[in-house]
Amino acid sequence: MLALPYKKYLYKFNGDFTICDQPVILSTPDFTRPSDEALHGDTGIAVWDAAVFLAKYLESKKEIVENRVVLELGSGLGLVGLSAARCGAKRMYLTDLPYILPTTQYNIENNKLTDVARVVPLDWNRPKDAAIAWDDVDVVIASDTVWVEELVEPFVHTLRFCTRSRRKSIRVLISNQRRSDRVLSLFMGMLEDGFVVHRELTEGNLEIYSIATIQ
Ligand SMILES: C[S@@+](CC[C@H](N)C(=O)[O-])C[C@H]1O[C@@H](n2cnc3c(N)ncnc32)[C@H](O)[C@@H]1O
Repeated sequence: MLALPYKKYLYKFNGDFTICDQPVILSTPDFTRPSDEALHGDTGIAVWDAAVFLAKYLESKKEIVENRVVLELGSGLGLVGLSAARCGAKRMYLTDLPYILPTTQYNIENNKLTDVARVVPLDWNRPKDAAIAWDDVDVVIASDTVWVEELVEPFVHTLRFCTRSRRKSIRVLISNQRRSDRVLSLFMGMLEDGFVVHRELTEGNLEIYSIATIQ
């Protein structure tokens, strides 16, 4: 059982959270989780501290996403993806398991970001099934996607799929809330095969890593 640390950020996302002076509003209208959903599926209904941390980091370094095609893995309600869209992303794919995407879509519409942002189902066990124009993607982002052991391998497999054999180098930024050293070590160990990892920022137990493929 993982002990969840206290919540650092107490935003309600009802207009109190802004990126580039514009609110990012999140709601969960009519959210119901089918009983046969995957074990870890319902974590997408919360906004995790690592998402706020990464959204604010992107705001401070807008050039990372400005005019870029950005793909988010495990978007949940969409805070990071919507924030990247507010920072000027050219196109923003918010991806997750199907159970949460109608809610994510609602948030895209509610923030009037339909011109830029769209939802796409992407399961880390089958990334190649996702309807993404892969060669267009410039940047991959994810927050709080490394927390249970059994998802580490599919998540790393997905990072490999997103970045390998593309025509250009893809920038990857991951934010993490450190809960289990064992899970983080497993993740870092798997990345040693083909990736270089750089820790960009740490604040308490929140961290941002940039991950590059070895060419
Ligand atoms: C801890 S939540 C983080 C949500 C959001 N990024 C945030 O930081 O607030 C993990 C996210 O990963 C998604 N997820 C879990 N298993 C997945 C899988 N196999 N494929 C794709 N997404 C998955 C969950 O649905 C959830 O949205």
